[in-house]
Amino acid sequence: MNQTAIPFPAAASIGDSHGRCVNYLRISVTDRCNLRCMYCWNSEGMQFLQHADILTYEEILRLVDLAVDMGIRKIRLTGGEPFARKGLLHLLEQMLLRHPGLDLRLTTNATLLSGKVQALKDIGISWLNISLDTFNRQKFQHITGRDMLRNVTGAIDEALDLGMKIKLNAVALKGINDDELPVFINFARRNPVDVRFIEFMPMGHCNRWTQDNFWAAEDILAAARSHAVLTTLGPGERKSGPARLYGIEGGMGRLGFISPMSNHFCNSCNRLRITSDGKLRTCLFSDKEYGLRQILRHPGLSMQHVRRVLENAGKRKPLGYKLLQEMREHTIADKRMNAIGG
Ligand code: GTP
Ligand code: 5AD
Ligand code: SF4
Repeated sequence: MNQTAIPFPAAASIGDSHGRCVNYLRISVTDRCNLRCMYCWNSEGMQFLQHADILTYEEILRLVDLAVDMGIRKIRLTGGEPFARKGLLHLLEQMLLRHPGLDLRLTTNATLLSGKVQALKDIGISWLNISLDTFNRQKFQHITGRDMLRNVTGAIDEALDLGMKIKLNAVALKGINDDELPVFINFARRNPVDVRFIEFMPMGHCNRWTQDNFWAAEDILAAARSHAVLTTLGPGERKSGPARLYGIEGGMGRLGFISPMSNHFCNSCNRLRITSDGKLRTCLFSDKEYGLRQILRHPGLSMQHVRRVLENAGKRKPLGYKLLQEMREHTIADKRMNAIGG
């Protein structure tokens, strides 16, 4: 495998037809996960992909080389749970050896993170997004189906001790974790982390969640104001990707709100996604997929063909909120989050 650093091109970009510049790619490295979150899994369980259908690390690296050449500057590896796939650290290392300036990040449930933080730092990863919906052990078991809260909080402590920058993602679940709002706020008060509440998105025909569980960002914000004095941040700080952020008076961290359902951020969306089975998705709210794996594996086709698909798909990247308005059924996409990668 070529380990020579590949320089960034001067200025390339995957432009779309709404004036957005696509420079962020999320790659799901596996659809497998060791948790069974209630908003991600159906009661009848799930079928996982066969190993042969998942992109190999070599294929992912070829895609990364191309994406960087096309102007992608930030890559986030997601899952399922990325650490559920063997050799993840090696993949991360290879990506940064080839593209030293790449902003490479991970979204993880942190259950398998303990003991790996130093290795991540040594590779050059300095940001982790960690999914955690509760600090209560019984509730964690209820939400995720596993008794693994200690693994997560232990790994978070380890990551904070080692100076890793952390964003904590909590899916806002009314009637389930709304009573813990003060606990989340206190965590952000005491630690230099962004604690972000994500509005639930009805993906993949999930049958273990109802509309009664929806907790809108504005309502969470109003409730948060009764537990803390939230401060307005400077213009460069108050928006971070999809999140609206607030400072906490007297606190080290910040509170964030990701409101895909009630207050969309489609006009500034800069991302593409690649599913673990090698399909390009241009919007979380669209089931339109562009198959890349067949091209990567076809002896008669080259990376030029993949490039053309990325260019064309980029141009067709929709405005997700319009799809949401047209939605007839109460589900946004046929695929579940674990297959798309969040
Ligand atoms: P940063 O790059 O650190 O801002 O992270 P991120 O928010 O892009 O990544 P993360 O994996 O932490 O995503 C948090 C969650 O926000 C995702 O799992 C989704 O639930 C939601 N989200 C992120 N990007 C989008 C998007 O493009 N559209 C929608 N609807 N939701 C998104
Ligand atoms: N709606 C909102 N967020 C979700 N996540 C998973 N499924 C959903 C959903 N249906 C979150 C995870 C994790 C991130 C990658 O996506 O909890 O924080
Ligand atoms: Fe796993 Fe994430 Fe789905 Fe939970 S939401 S089961 S952590 S893939």
